[in-house]
Amino acid sequence: MKERISTLLKREPQAEFVVAEGWVRTKRDSKNVCFLEVNDGSCLKGLQVVIDKEQLSDASILNEITTGCSVICKGPIVSSAGGNQAVEMATTDVQVVGPCPVDTYPLQKKRHSIEYLREIAHLRARTNLFGAVARVRNTLSYAVHTFFQEHGFSYVNTPIIGASDCEGAGEQFLVTTLDLDNIPRNEQGQIDYSKDFFGRQAFLTVSGQLEGETYAMALKNIYTFGPTFRAENSNTKRHLSEFWMVEPEMAFCTLEGNMEVAEAFLKYLFKTVLEECAEDMAFFSKFVQSGVQETLKAIVETPFAHLTYTEAIEELSKHNDTFEFPVSWGSDLQSEHEKFLTEVVCKRPVIVTDYPKEIKAFYMKLNEDGKTVRGMDVLVPRLGEIIGGSERESDLATLTKRMEELGLNLDDYWWYLDLRRFGTVPHAGFGLGFERLVQYVTGIANIRDVIPYPRAPKLADF
Ligand code: 4AD
Ligand code: MG
Repeated sequence: MKERISTLLKREPQAEFVVAEGWVRTKRDSKNVCFLEVNDGSCLKGLQVVIDKEQLSDASILNEITTGCSVICKGPIVSSAGGNQAVEMATTDVQVVGPCPVDTYPLQKKRHSIEYLREIAHLRARTNLFGAVARVRNTLSYAVHTFFQEHGFSYVNTPIIGASDCEGAGEQFLVTTLDLDNIPRNEQGQIDYSKDFFGRQAFLTVSGQLEGETYAMALKNIYTFGPTFRAENSNTKRHLSEFWMVEPEMAFCTLEGNMEVAEAFLKYLFKTVLEECAEDMAFFSKFVQSGVQETLKAIVETPFAHLTYTEAIEELSKHNDTFEFPVSWGSDLQSEHEKFLTEVVCKRPVIVTDYPKEIKAFYMKLNEDGKTVRGMDVLVPRLGEIIGGSERESDLATLTKRMEELGLNLDDYWWYLDLRRFGTVPHAGFGLGFERLVQYVTGIANIRDVIPYPRAPKLADF
């Protein structure tokens, strides 16, 4: 396989010719030489290619080389006289593969705003910032698999199209096979969904958890990692309509084991990215979020804080005058409260547990008080909720009762209830929002900038 530029940059000077392929980021001319920075996305800084103008067989090529064009350069790796890099390529052999007209190329040499770059999502990965985000995202994806594979979890692929609503929040996108020009309606004029999706109603999944649980009841420890969809009309910096979620599920596991795994998992991810993406992380520290590396390093070395929901409300209600939404027992925690708990009360990540059952999903295990459930949210400074999870209700009668209270149709969940009929066991799991993770690690303010093509209520053309 051909070498990437990141590998060439680590070479000792050598006479042997090597090949560098990539896109020109910058071009600087002096009298006898022309300097190019050629980048192939393998690292932040490209390879400096120095063209000896006098030795070129055809000097007209120099006019063809512009920012954004694609090139193949061949030559030896030599020590660099400039202070910015240890080595560079000396060449007289440059081929322009695809030219790039300067006047219409949307990426100019100047620094562009992040909002402008969002409008050209098909080109933004060619910038330093979005190249770094893509590499960090890639490293984190791989680390997710490594962590679970090394701890004996099996990777399970759960469906994208399904009939049940895991979170019960009614935030599902409908998948339809209906002929939109000829929608079947009942006598009241309502759409007849019985004819939808080849004869039944179907949705895009909001979570792989319920199906994940069925495999945990056979393989003990599993995880999913796939796209999930939420039709909530949230125009915030931390919500997307389509996001990736990592969902481990563990049989013979209670809330305590679940919290332990969540903390170890996050710390592993932070540590990996600090070690393997040091150059990109230094870039984020410099240009995006000052001190982000130190913050992550401190988190890796310190135990997370723990609060019950009731304790969290006690703390928060002392400061109700400072909140847009004052809290009392029973309130759902908003982003401002999550920030307060992590940044002011605990000054580190905190795991909040035992929420009122009314504000959590039907599947969470009921505590003996009959009022709270064994749910947990992991909150981090600056961002708020990064993980949501729980111990699951494993008792058939209690689960059925709760589902009836919430008006869920038990017939739709017969297969899920079977898990409690046949060899039930305490089990627990959680969901990590993958984009929230990338957002947190990079310090990028808006979640739309950490996924290649963000899907949010105001959809772009891509
Ligand atoms: O808290 P949530 O809704 O939990 C679940 O879906 C459970 N079924 C997970 C489980 O126990 N297996 O979502 C989990 C995480 C959140 O903590 C958040 O990080 C992320 O998913 N998330 C979103 N990320 C981006 N955009 C959205 N609209 C999100 N909604 C949730
Ligand atoms: Mg949640």
